[in-house]
Amino acid sequence: MANGKVNILAIESSCDDTSAAIVQDGVVLSNLIATQKVHELYGGVVPEMASRAHMQKIVPVVDVALKQAGIDKQDINAVAFTQAPGLIGSLLVGACFAKSFAQALNVPLISVHHMQAHVLAHFIDEPKPQFPFLCLTVSGGHTQVVLCKSHLDMQVLGETIDDAAGEAFDKVAKMLGLPYPGGPMVDKLAKEGNPTRFSFPLSDMQGFDFSFSGLKTAVLYFLQNEKKKDADFVANNLNDICASVQHTIITMLMKKLKKAARELNINHIGIAGGVSANSGLRAALAETGKQMGWQVHIPKFEYCTDNAAMIGITGYYKYLQGQFADLSASPTARAAWI
Ligand code: KG4
Ligand code: ZN
Repeated sequence: MANGKVNILAIESSCDDTSAAIVQDGVVLSNLIATQKVHELYGGVVPEMASRAHMQKIVPVVDVALKQAGIDKQDINAVAFTQAPGLIGSLLVGACFAKSFAQALNVPLISVHHMQAHVLAHFIDEPKPQFPFLCLTVSGGHTQVVLCKSHLDMQVLGETIDDAAGEAFDKVAKMLGLPYPGGPMVDKLAKEGNPTRFSFPLSDMQGFDFSFSGLKTAVLYFLQNEKKKDADFVANNLNDICASVQHTIITMLMKKLKKAARELNINHIGIAGGVSANSGLRAALAETGKQMGWQVHIPKFEYCTDNAAMIGITGYYKYLQGQFADLSASPTARAAWI
């Protein structure tokens, strides 16, 4: 252990971002993210291209992460990597790299669940949430209400039964002819639009579960009908459509979050995952927090979308608990909470 400090090298490669971070005693020293631009040409992530791009980028990204942190390879105490969920080819690149690195340095390997890491992104900066902490985790593949009893003791209270919130943003964006990934673009256009101009159905699932596939279908039929009347309907109403769809998604998300906070009597509340970068959702959480007397937690932008710093912070808590992985640990595309 260099100078008595715990240095973790973290690798995140679950989708189309190749990321490496160095976390020292729970403090992020570097967090490099190489975004793969190639997918923009195809309107979505092409899995094999993602794996190939990870292969090209992983070594230089790790090199720069070490340099920026001012840490020598020999001073790494453990290597943490995303084991699941994600694109299997992408995960395999990160896992193979992490295992080789850990074996070469003879240090322990730590496997991390990507969704748990999104939640623990809240424990990178101050002020950190207090337990029990309730987190709405909204990404491209997941939408979950998570009860956190401690750093590593989490329970998924509810989740989407079909599309994720990020998927709803991306699919609607595609229907509107916007480039991939659609979420950030819808967010940008929505700022100039009227959120109550068009109304879409709000699904109401049991308990704390969500459903977004009905919204996707409703928007599809709505656009088909309107385009019959006015071929330029989308171009003429783009900002209002984006604002109205975004408003519908946020309403559904906030409704379940409020219900969970009320029923569990929790007042440390946060959002995490790529969709937590959405300015409308951030504003809605801040506003609801004021009304409900919540301590609201919103991660920095760079810790909302996929990043290795969140893998490193999760790795750090696992390191403290001695939760190490075997070198036979193998990634899985889908995984229950690890
Ligand atoms: O967490 P993340 O980076 O990757 C996954 O684990 O899926 O989330 C990616 C998702 C995409 O669906 C993207 O469109 C969405 O997060 N996203 C946003 C915004 N920024 C990213 N959605 C709405 N508004 C944003 N500003
Ligand atoms: Zn993610």
